[in-house]
Amino acid sequence: MGVVLLVLLLCAGSSIARDVLSPTVDIIAELEKLKHMDERIQKLEETLTKVLSENEDKKVAFSAGLLAFGTEKIGPIGDTKTLEYKKVFSNVGNAYDSNTGIFTAPVKGVYYFRFYGHCHGGTTMAVSLLKNGQNQCSVHSARPASNSNASNGVVLTLEIGDQIYTVLWRNTWVYDDPASYTSFSGFLIFPL
Ligand SMILES: *[C@@H]1O[C@H](CO)[C@@H](O)[C@H](O)[C@H]1NC(C)=O
Repeated sequence: MGVVLLVLLLCAGSSIARDVLSPTVDIIAELEKLKHMDERIQKLEETLTKVLSENEDKKVAFSAGLLAFGTEKIGPIGDTKTLEYKKVFSNVGNAYDSNTGIFTAPVKGVYYFRFYGHCHGGTTMAVSLLKNGQNQCSVHSARPASNSNASNGVVLTLEIGDQIYTVLWRNTWVYDDPASYTSFSGFLIFPL
């Protein structure tokens, strides 16, 4: 058994040696192959760098509370008002603007948004989530006995540049304090 194995190994070994040392091996052709291989590796590296940086653009998630500090009841206002959530917990991809309260989609994809509202002292609250000015979903709490909480969420397919924000309807109130009862969050589930 051992002898058979040894003979086989010797045969295999000598055939490899013959190939390498054979004067018929075209060294130039072999070098040419190596060169092509090198070019392919370079192309792969370029593609990989591109894909990695594209994926970096596709990391989108934010969460913000209405008030950065203090306690306040916002409203009632004569007109519908875009809520500007100032306490930014996270804003990966910088798609949410705390100066305007508007989220602008940086990539085409499927996103999830959620908002939470709290009202206080028996005041009525009505908040909606809008996409480019169109109502998507809302919460409403009419004159609760003392306070009230309401939340809604939606999965939306967005194009680059689509704008998502929440509004407080006219003649209603929303409350927030350091516990961040009133908040707005969103993230990209997957790009399209
Ligand atoms: C609203 O949520 C707050 C915080 O959890 C709670 O203290 C309050 O009782 C809730 N209000 C109602 C009406 O459930």
